Amino acid sequence: KKLMIINGPNLNLLGTREPDLYGSLSLHEFLDAIKAKYPTVEIFHFQSNIEGELISKIQEVGFTYDGIILNAAAYTHTSVGIGDAIKAITTPVVEVHISNTYAREEFRHHSFIAPNAKGVILGFGLQSYELAIQSFLTD
Ligand code: DQA
Repeated sequence: KKLMIINGPNLNLLGTREPDLYGSLSLHEFLDAIKAKYPTVEIFHFQSNIEGELISKIQEVGFTYDGIILNAAAYTHTSVGIGDAIKAITTPVVEVHISNTYAREEFRHHSFIAPNAKGVILGFGLQSYELAIQSFLTD
Protein backbone atom coordinates (compact mmCIF):
# COMPACT_ATOMS: atom_id res chain seq x y z
CA LYS A 1 0.00 0.00 0.00
CA LYS A 2 1.08 3.52 -0.79
CA LEU A 3 -0.07 6.11 1.74
CA MET A 4 0.48 9.88 1.93
CA ILE A 5 0.36 11.67 5.26
CA ILE A 6 -0.44 15.36 4.75
CA ASN A 7 -0.03 17.77 7.63
CA GLY A 8 -1.21 21.36 7.60
CA PRO A 9 -0.14 24.58 9.29
CA ASN A 10 1.93 24.64 12.48
CA LEU A 11 2.32 20.87 12.61
CA ASN A 12 5.99 21.37 11.68
CA LEU A 13 6.31 22.66 15.25
CA LEU A 14 5.10 19.39 16.77
CA GLY A 15 7.14 18.58 19.86
CA THR A 16 7.65 22.20 20.86
CA ARG A 17 4.16 23.56 20.18
CA GLU A 18 1.79 23.29 23.18
CA PRO A 19 3.26 19.91 24.24
CA ASP A 20 0.51 19.34 26.82
CA LEU A 21 -1.95 19.24 23.96
CA TYR A 22 0.06 17.84 21.06
CA GLY A 23 2.84 15.77 22.71
CA SER A 24 6.61 16.15 22.89
CA LEU A 25 7.62 14.04 19.89
CA SER A 26 8.70 15.92 16.76
CA LEU A 27 7.09 15.13 13.43
CA HIS A 28 10.27 13.49 12.15
CA GLU A 29 10.82 11.35 15.24
CA PHE A 30 7.25 10.19 15.01
CA LEU A 31 7.36 9.44 11.28
CA ASP A 32 10.62 7.51 11.57
CA ALA A 33 9.06 5.33 14.27
CA ILE A 34 5.91 4.74 12.20
CA LYS A 35 7.90 3.85 9.07
CA ALA A 36 10.00 1.38 11.08
CA LYS A 37 6.86 -0.21 12.53
CA TYR A 38 5.19 -0.69 9.12
CA PRO A 39 8.11 -1.64 6.85
CA THR A 40 5.90 -3.13 4.14
CA VAL A 41 3.80 0.03 3.76
CA GLU A 42 5.07 2.87 1.58
CA ILE A 43 4.54 5.89 3.81
CA PHE A 44 5.17 9.35 2.38
CA HIS A 45 4.83 12.66 4.16
CA PHE A 46 4.16 16.25 3.19
CA GLN A 47 3.76 19.25 5.48
CA SER A 48 2.93 22.80 4.52
CA ASN A 49 1.74 25.95 6.21
CA ILE A 50 0.25 27.12 2.92
CA GLU A 51 -3.32 26.21 1.97
CA GLY A 52 -2.72 26.10 -1.80
CA GLU A 53 0.29 23.79 -1.41
CA LEU A 54 -1.88 21.36 0.54
CA ILE A 55 -4.49 21.44 -2.25
CA SER A 56 -1.82 20.87 -4.93
CA LYS A 57 -0.43 17.87 -3.02
CA ILE A 58 -3.94 16.40 -2.59
CA GLN A 59 -4.46 16.72 -6.38
CA GLU A 60 -1.00 15.30 -7.15
CA VAL A 61 -1.41 12.07 -5.17
CA GLY A 62 -5.20 11.82 -5.16
CA PHE A 63 -5.58 9.57 -8.21
CA THR A 64 -2.75 7.08 -7.68
CA TYR A 65 -2.16 6.53 -3.96
CA ASP A 66 -4.14 4.00 -1.91
CA GLY A 67 -4.89 6.46 0.86
CA ILE A 68 -4.38 9.96 2.18
CA ILE A 69 -4.16 10.65 5.90
CA LEU A 70 -4.94 14.33 6.30
CA ASN A 71 -4.49 16.56 9.31
CA ALA A 72 -5.37 19.92 7.79
CA ALA A 73 -4.92 21.51 11.24
CA ALA A 74 -6.55 24.96 11.43
CA TYR A 75 -7.58 24.80 7.75
CA THR A 76 -9.92 21.94 8.71
CA HIS A 77 -12.26 24.53 10.13
CA THR A 78 -11.91 27.17 7.41
CA SER A 79 -10.99 25.72 4.03
CA VAL A 80 -13.72 25.24 1.44
CA GLY A 81 -10.87 24.69 -1.05
CA ILE A 82 -9.39 21.69 0.76
CA GLY A 83 -12.89 20.24 1.20
CA ASP A 84 -13.51 20.62 -2.54
CA ALA A 85 -10.13 19.05 -3.39
CA ILE A 86 -11.11 15.92 -1.46
CA LYS A 87 -14.37 15.74 -3.41
CA ALA A 88 -12.43 16.04 -6.68
CA ILE A 89 -10.05 13.09 -6.17
CA THR A 90 -10.53 9.32 -6.14
CA THR A 91 -8.09 8.32 -3.36
CA PRO A 92 -9.92 7.88 -0.03
CA VAL A 93 -9.03 10.38 2.69
CA VAL A 94 -9.02 9.70 6.42
CA GLU A 95 -9.15 12.92 8.47
CA VAL A 96 -7.06 12.86 11.63
CA HIS A 97 -6.49 15.17 14.57
CA ILE A 98 -4.13 14.80 17.48
CA SER A 99 -6.47 16.49 19.94
CA ASN A 100 -10.18 15.88 20.50
CA THR A 101 -11.43 18.92 18.64
CA TYR A 102 -14.95 18.40 20.06
CA ALA A 103 -13.60 18.95 23.57
CA ARG A 104 -12.16 22.32 22.51
CA GLU A 105 -13.50 25.67 21.27
CA GLU A 106 -16.74 25.75 19.31
CA PHE A 107 -14.96 26.88 16.13
CA ARG A 108 -13.06 23.57 16.07
CA HIS A 109 -16.30 21.55 16.01
CA HIS A 110 -16.91 22.13 12.32
CA SER A 111 -14.85 20.41 9.62
CA PHE A 112 -14.86 21.06 5.88
CA ILE A 113 -12.98 17.76 5.46
CA ALA A 114 -15.26 15.35 7.33
CA PRO A 115 -18.27 15.31 4.95
CA ASN A 116 -15.99 14.11 2.15
CA ALA A 117 -13.72 11.84 4.19
CA LYS A 118 -13.92 8.07 4.40
CA GLY A 119 -13.69 8.44 8.17
CA VAL A 120 -12.39 10.63 10.96
CA ILE A 121 -10.01 9.70 13.80
CA LEU A 122 -9.32 12.25 16.50
CA GLY A 123 -8.27 12.69 20.07
CA PHE A 124 -5.77 9.83 20.36
CA GLY A 125 -2.63 11.94 20.21
CA LEU A 126 -0.12 10.88 17.56
CA GLN A 127 -1.71 7.43 17.70
CA SER A 128 -4.55 8.93 15.62
CA TYR A 129 -2.20 8.72 12.59
CA GLU A 130 -1.33 5.10 13.32
CA LEU A 131 -5.00 4.14 13.61
CA ALA A 132 -5.58 5.81 10.25
CA ILE A 133 -2.74 3.79 8.67
CA GLN A 134 -4.23 0.60 10.11
CA SER A 135 -7.62 1.50 8.63
CA PHE A 136 -6.07 1.34 5.15
CA LEU A 137 -4.34 -1.99 5.81
CA THR A 138 -7.48 -3.91 6.63
CA ASP A 139 -9.42 -3.11 3.45
C1 DQA B 1 -5.42 19.85 15.12
C2 DQA B 1 -6.68 20.52 15.68
C3 DQA B 1 -6.93 21.86 15.02
O1 DQA B 1 -8.10 22.46 15.56
C4 DQA B 1 -5.76 22.79 15.27
O2 DQA B 1 -5.96 24.00 14.57
C5 DQA B 1 -4.44 22.17 14.93
C6 DQA B 1 -4.21 20.76 15.23
C7 DQA B 1 -5.07 18.54 15.84
O3 DQA B 1 -4.37 17.73 15.24
O4 DQA B 1 -5.47 18.34 16.98
O5 DQA B 1 -3.54 22.85 14.44
O6 DQA B 1 -5.66 19.55 13.75
